[in-house]
Amino acid sequence: APDISLSNVQSHLSTLQSIATANGGNRAHGRAGYKASVDHLKSRLDAAGYTTAVQQFTSNGAVGYNLTADWPGGDVNNTIMLGGHLDSVTAGPGINDNGSGSAGLLEVALTAARTNFAPTKHVRFAWWGAEELGLVGSTYYVNNLPSAERSRIKAYLNFDMIGSPNPGYFVYSASGQPSGSLALQQLLQSAFSGVVATELTSVGGRSDHAAFARSGIPVGGLFTGAEVAKTSAQAQKWGGTAGVAFDRCYHRSCDTTANINATALDRNADAIAFALWGLAA
Ligand code: PHE
Ligand code: CA
Ligand code: ZN
Ligand code: ZN
Ligand code: ZN
Repeated sequence: APDISLSNVQSHLSTLQSIATANGGNRAHGRAGYKASVDHLKSRLDAAGYTTAVQQFTSNGAVGYNLTADWPGGDVNNTIMLGGHLDSVTAGPGINDNGSGSAGLLEVALTAARTNFAPTKHVRFAWWGAEELGLVGSTYYVNNLPSAERSRIKAYLNFDMIGSPNPGYFVYSASGQPSGSLALQQLLQSAFSGVVATELTSVGGRSDHAAFARSGIPVGGLFTGAEVAKTSAQAQKWGGTAGVAFDRCYHRSCDTTANINATALDRNADAIAFALWGLAA
């Protein structure tokens, strides 16, 4: 798998920060900053050769948007999906939650295009709306997939918070949810071998993989931690500060570009590419 450029991922995060700053400080569902985020990603993906689609839904009296980007080619009967939510809470710009996953996925997609990726399987990226209102966009997408389409999706990988400032390196546990896949768990664990130790975490229904899992699609994902405090054993293993949350700015106005650990962001973006090339190539 190619190395994903940290500085390119950081530049996408700077753009998302600018979008929030220009739109009242957030990129939340129903606010101008959300739609501007969708428009930015869509234009980058269209220019790279992706087939994009914007799916509209309504939640809490406001229109929401899911963005999907299909890389042309590959066996559509064996489709691999990778996604994360693009919306923030209203309190802040949502740069770690989840600009980080959104920017990492975008740069992996752009890198695939740049390297003329010609996978055996079909690849679809997704950026979900209204996750912060209760997984609304991803649930809408799965519920509105015709069953024939749904059965073509062989895996869904989720990336929600991958640059936490006091990071842990968590892989979604296969046993922690319905349709958790041991193969996907092990693939994501092996992405970090020789790089940094990982731990398994039971994310349950806390992010956008949940609707896929409920419908029987194998799921997996990565996470660098949110409101929970890092233990001293974890600080010995990973560095950082014991007794402090993985992300002290979780759902707060301080979730800005200053709220990102660059090493964690780089390792996780590289791991997304490792997983995609391993699954689809
Ligand atoms: N989905 C949570 C949020 O956006 C973050 C989270 C992701 C929590 C994964 C646990 C596991 O606020
Ligand atoms: Ca890298
Ligand atoms: Zn960008
Ligand atoms: Zn959140
Ligand atoms: Zn999130």
